Amino acid sequence: MKFFERDNELIQIVDGLVNVPALTNKLTNQLSTEEPFYVMDIDEIVRKHQNWIEKMPRVVPHYAVKCNDNDVVCATLAALGASFDCASKGEISKILGFGVSPDRIIFANPMKPSSHLRYADANNVKTMTFDSDVELHKIKTISPDAKLVLRIRCEAEKALCPLGKKFGCDPEEEAPRLIKIARSLNLEIVGISFHVGSGCADFPIYFKAISYARDLFDYAKTFGYEMNLLDIGGGFPGEKGTIIDEVAMIVNSALDKFFPDKSIRIISEPGRYYVSAAFTLITAVQSKRVCLDPKTRAIDRMMYYLNDGVYASFNCILYDHQMPKPVLLRQHDGKKYNSTIWGPTCDALDQLVENIQLPELHIDDWVMFENMGAYTIPVASPFNGFPLPKVYCYISKDTWEMLNDLCPVNESSFCFPVGNEITMNYEDIACA
Ligand SMILES: Cc1ncc(COP(=O)(O)O)c(C=O)c1O
Repeated sequence: MKFFERDNELIQIVDGLVNVPALTNKLTNQLSTEEPFYVMDIDEIVRKHQNWIEKMPRVVPHYAVKCNDNDVVCATLAALGASFDCASKGEISKILGFGVSPDRIIFANPMKPSSHLRYADANNVKTMTFDSDVELHKIKTISPDAKLVLRIRCEAEKALCPLGKKFGCDPEEEAPRLIKIARSLNLEIVGISFHVGSGCADFPIYFKAISYARDLFDYAKTFGYEMNLLDIGGGFPGEKGTIIDEVAMIVNSALDKFFPDKSIRIISEPGRYYVSAAFTLITAVQSKRVCLDPKTRAIDRMMYYLNDGVYASFNCILYDHQMPKPVLLRQHDGKKYNSTIWGPTCDALDQLVENIQLPELHIDDWVMFENMGAYTIPVASPFNGFPLPKVYCYISKDTWEMLNDLCPVNESSFCFPVGNEITMNYEDIACA
């Protein structure tokens, strides 16, 4: 298995804990304000994984690659033994490239392009979701020995990104019909899946969804299906300060009630849970406009133009309904002004914050945004020729050694000494 294999980016191993504020301070002293960058805390991802195992020991997480396909994220989770939710040929190929075995991948896109399905089949990725009869016929032709997971719809009342309009069949009307069709096509259904909505704020919905799944396990049995997989999807919070204790309690009690049989495999597809807090984005003020009140000539509003915007990292404002909060990295005293923060492109849609009270900022002032790991990097585009942020990855020595035990790294992997840190090139690090 390969651990880190990306060129031109570095992982730095630090003594003690990964101290993001201290590392940010150091980087802002070294780097040009021209280009935005991320500080990534690998330990945070490892902590999230350990926390998941502690809080929901029966549920095997399959990281949703779509959320952030950064190589270090994927390699870290692969080394930790997590499994993966892939939505396309590209994602499957990437994860297989880390040496992950195909049975640790669920192809969790209910609508699969035929060529992607052919690729999955040829590479032994057999577990996949479906929610329509047309897809069943396609699967019958291309991957007749697939292990099918029927995705039902059971939506949270409150979620940042509801998914039920597009995916999931009705659990009471359509699901029984699809089970019958699958039977008539002699296809194997192994389980039920659902996704309550990304950024779910209605955790009791998991209980209801798990109870629907139970009913369908029983119904499918009457057609000779002995289902053995329950996939509880994503929707788990991941920002700093959020915890999964409440949702874990609800999930665990639903599993005890509806799936006491421990031989049933329970899996999940968390995305933002793993990566949101691990990425901190550092931007800088590139330009500024002072808007005066036409009558009084007093300052009415400040407008700041940062070097990252909605076409790049802040696409999460448009697509993930986030409201990122700017944090100033320098102490600014004095009067506060109504301020608007823009991205760098020529589009007026490129607005990050419309109205905020801020002290006066100046060109080259750094502005930080935390919790920027989910649904940012994979969607970002260098529109208008603005470069995408580079990712600086940090890991504590203890965590590095732990991962290294799981997936050894050879001596020549270490290079480019920077200060007192050991800096590692991602290239050519082959793991056992
Ligand atoms: C099928 C599927 N699984 C998992 C996820 C990840 O969800 P989350 O980031 O809320 O955990 C998504 C997100 O859209 C998804 O569509």
